[in-house]
Amino acid sequence: MSIALIIPDRKLDAVVAALQQQLPDTPLQIWPELTDPAAVEFAVVWRQPPGALNNLPNLKALQSFGAGVDSILTDPTLPDLPLARIVDPHLTQSMLDYLQTVVSYYRLRFDEFGAQQRQCQWKPRSARKLQQICVLGLGELGAATAQHFARQGYKVTGWSARPKQLAEVNCFDGDSGFQSAVAGADVLICLLPLTAQTENLLNDERLSMCKRGAILVNVARGAVIDDDALLAALASGQLAAACLDVFRTEPLPAEHPFWQHEQLMLTPHISAVTNAQTAVAQIAENYRRVRCGQPMLNLTDRKRGY
Ligand code: NDP
Ligand code: OXD
Repeated sequence: MSIALIIPDRKLDAVVAALQQQLPDTPLQIWPELTDPAAVEFAVVWRQPPGALNNLPNLKALQSFGAGVDSILTDPTLPDLPLARIVDPHLTQSMLDYLQTVVSYYRLRFDEFGAQQRQCQWKPRSARKLQQICVLGLGELGAATAQHFARQGYKVTGWSARPKQLAEVNCFDGDSGFQSAVAGADVLICLLPLTAQTENLLNDERLSMCKRGAILVNVARGAVIDDDALLAALASGQLAAACLDVFRTEPLPAEHPFWQHEQLMLTPHISAVTNAQTAVAQIAENYRRVRCGQPMLNLTDRKRGY
């Protein structure tokens, strides 16, 4: 019985070495060389090409190599099997470090001073008064983010699909709760999964509900934002700036208007990168569970899409 790793375009040496250490008696097959398809019981997947999971007659379970599962669920040939994802305190800490840095960057007006530097201008200004933060999505990462900023004394609101209670966070839910969640927020942080319900969720109408001059940070998935609506909101001053770590197409195409935009700060999907060591411990645990007929940890709800 073996594990298939179907993770294109990524160096897998560290993952393979760590998995071999955790599961020394389990053969690994690495896509595209699945030499013994009938032996594969468990597949670790990330942005798999459609069809890559077909013809594995004894496959019992799927494990995402990341926290998100949108790129796995878009495969129209995906077998109807349980799908688990990575939930990792290291990933959460990495996201908090990134977001803390971004909020400080804007609070201290490094965006404005960077633009001034390019024009040899010397214009001291005091820090921005960022007082209220809204976190869209209150799951593993969103809830930790909301509580992190609440502990620092920010007024924090949050938004989720279903009602939630989080200490020191004013929580709203559903379509009717969106406007109350974003109203008054100086910074909006997007930590929503990409699903049929969240695609282009941040469109003209919803961006117009935000406080004028707010700053948007997207660390979730690019397609949650309507790119044209974002550009229009920046041009009109509805948004003062945005920091984007994720994009509709990755890598961001060279001709995309985001690259040269003065009000945008871009990073190449690095806010919380899967850590091979900690991810492998979870993968091995879920593999053992599948072999014993136990439910996997961190299962996703395939109907909801996250
Ligand atoms: P979770 O699945 O734990 O949480 C998702 C949250 O979004 C939940 O609170 C859920 O609400 C809410 N939500 C989902 N759909 C809607 C909707 N239609 N309206 C309102 N709220 C909604 O995800 P994580 O916190 O672990 O991760 C969030 C996303 O971050 C991932 O899906 C991934 O895309 C992205 N990510 C990005 C990384 C990066 O490096 N940039 C790294 C890791 C993750 P409810 O609680 O009510 O179900
Ligand atoms: C993830 C990601 O979802 O890296 O884990 O974006």
